[in-house]
Amino acid sequence: MAVYIHEATPMDVDPFIDFVRDSMMRTYVDPERDIGPAYFDPQYFNNESRRAGSERQVTPSDINRAWIARDDGGVLVGVLAAEDQKDHVEIIKLHVARDRQRQGIGRLLMNEAFTWWGNNRRYGLEVIHFNPAIDFYRRLGFAIDQSVPPIRYDHYPQEDWPIGHHPEFWAYRMWREPGIPA
Ligand SMILES: CC(C)(COP(=O)(O)OP(=O)(O)OC[C@H]1O[C@@H](n2cnc3c(N)ncnc32)[C@H](O)[C@@H]1OP(=O)(O)O)[C@@H](O)C(=O)NCCC(=O)NCCS
Repeated sequence: MAVYIHEATPMDVDPFIDFVRDSMMRTYVDPERDIGPAYFDPQYFNNESRRAGSERQVTPSDINRAWIARDDGGVLVGVLAAEDQKDHVEIIKLHVARDRQRQGIGRLLMNEAFTWWGNNRRYGLEVIHFNPAIDFYRRLGFAIDQSVPPIRYDHYPQEDWPIGHHPEFWAYRMWREPGIPA
């Protein structure tokens, strides 16, 4: 099935939030690590500040840009949100529907960002240490920054973002240096 990509707009915010939540649940719930689905309750994604963050991410501006991938029936199959942080471009969210992974959609979305900001920029992201996406990012030219200590999310209040307090929920920083062709 063909896939097309369009720039996100504020109208996409609700499906964007639901899609990201669903994907995070599928990616991170892991009984062996004692990470259950309750960590991904909708309340944590729809509280005021997190919703405002998603709205900002899907609203094109000098700083923010997001893209949505859909199949030819219009079904949402992927999202990417990125932010120009001046010294680098931060990939904030990247998710492809489980049943559409390994079909090139993640790469297509990343190429939108690489084309928009260009190959002479540095790109950065955080990835949870047990996420197989690490190998995807390596394929696209990213490498783990070994000098950065584990990134934790426990600065969020426990009642607001409980997964941030889970001992297994820590991330690597990865960088893609300027000059790598898309
Ligand atoms: C990570 C993710 C976005 C990749 O998207 P995708 O559409 O499946 O990736 P693509 O099909 O475009 O793959 C591009 C390349 O990466 C490789 N790749 C993709 N997923 C991989 C994996 N899990 N392990 C190893 N390689 C992988 C592909 O084989 C392909 O390599 P090639 O072009 O050299 O053949 C997708 O798996 C996903 O949404 N995961 C769940 C959410 C998530 O973890 N997001 C990242 C949060 S930081």
